[in-house]
Amino acid sequence: QIFLKERKHQKKIMDKLIIRGNADLKGEISIKGSKNSALPIMVSALLSENTLKLQNIPKLVDIKNMSQLLRNYGAIIKSNGSNFEINCKKIVNRNADYDIVRKMRASVLILGPLLARFGKAKISLPGGCAIGTRPIDIHLEGLKKLGANFNVENGYVVGKVNNQLIGNHIKLSFPSVGATENIMMAAVRAKGKTIIENAAMEPEIADLAYSLNKMGSKINITNKGIIKITGVEKFNKANHKIMSDRIVAGTFVIAAVMLNKKFKVKEVEPQNLKALISSLKEMGANIKVEKNIINILPSINLKGIKIQTSPYPGFPTDLQAQMMALMSLAKGSSQIKENIFENRFMHVPELNRLGAKIKVKKDVAYISGSRHFKGAQVMASDLRASVSLVLAALCAEGESEINRVYHLDRGYEKIENTLGKLGPSIKREK
Ligand code: EPZ
Repeated sequence: QIFLKERKHQKKIMDKLIIRGNADLKGEISIKGSKNSALPIMVSALLSENTLKLQNIPKLVDIKNMSQLLRNYGAIIKSNGSNFEINCKKIVNRNADYDIVRKMRASVLILGPLLARFGKAKISLPGGCAIGTRPIDIHLEGLKKLGANFNVENGYVVGKVNNQLIGNHIKLSFPSVGATENIMMAAVRAKGKTIIENAAMEPEIADLAYSLNKMGSKINITNKGIIKITGVEKFNKANHKIMSDRIVAGTFVIAAVMLNKKFKVKEVEPQNLKALISSLKEMGANIKVEKNIINILPSINLKGIKIQTSPYPGFPTDLQAQMMALMSLAKGSSQIKENIFENRFMHVPELNRLGAKIKVKKDVAYISGSRHFKGAQVMASDLRASVSLVLAALCAEGESEINRVYHLDRGYEKIENTLGKLGPSIKREK
């Protein structure tokens, strides 16, 4: 049984996408729920003895892994399609093993809720990944300020609380998304008030706070990176619809601009994509924003620009790779400075294999414009890098083969079907 499972897993890893270039793209797409909102909100169910009902959960590998992790702790999860019911009344506190944490860094988010509810937790250190070392020091610093103590024993972080977490004034050294979420999910059950300063302000944080407040928490987010929390003891049952995925939405907007097609991206919250939309308009893209729709129309020609990634509301690092593919087609050169992750240019050599001309010097990528992509065999490295290769392959002359698409499956629902329905010829080969 294990052998078959292993063999199936190995085969999965060999999956590749065959994409024919000069793709057509027509019609519209409705964007599903946000992976980076769904993951912390699923974890927040650990805080409560009552059922958390969730709608608009995306069908992604990371969601499956998170469900598996929570079930390991005894959570009862019922799901049909994008509706989930999670009940954590009977939770057995155990360890989050290296195998699951290695695959999905969001596993570290269980630290805060477990410490708040049980006063102890043991999770494997996440280790690095393709885009950087990604430590959790800011998470631990904040949780310590609430009264937790940690030590590291052979690759595991063991957290303990003497009696109860106590609210405190915490100033993050960097507005880390995960650390803000971890600390928030501990503070909501701590005794007294907590203030988090220099907190991440990504929309997914607001969605988590909205869902926690429906469960009975008392969280107030100001617009200056300050989050005020008053701890509560009881959580009631709640019902929450996950916000739309702004990164998937941004990816399809960029795809339509690259293919220069009339296209509609629906079920989005355009106010969450202001930085992307203003950058695309600065390049000369023809974009019209309605209430929950972004309309892309063909544009005459696009010019290169300079951007840099920064915490929200700045340009999102998760759209940096996709933007780089688009910039290769614009007239004139562009630059991207990556300020969030120390190694998030893994897609550059692969895009160059497809015909881009990009040079990297430290944390800046210099992108030549007016390039023509040509089909090639390429290798995906991390979730967003792999989708930038798909975008380039759609615009290329001839056919491309993208290997290790399991990276893609973590963030994009069956992209060959999603895209296949909209015109491109894209198939998955086992
Ligand atoms: C979240 O990761 C997202 N993941 C990432 O999306 C996203 O790229 C990132 O935020 C930035 O927006 C989820 O929400 C599940 P961070 P997270 O903590 O929380 C350093 C995707 O494609 N740092 O804001 O891990 C860290 O190394 C993924 O969906 C510390 O040094 O991001 C990085 O350089 C990729 N110490 C920077 O801060 C810490 O304790 C930003 O990390 C924590 C972070």
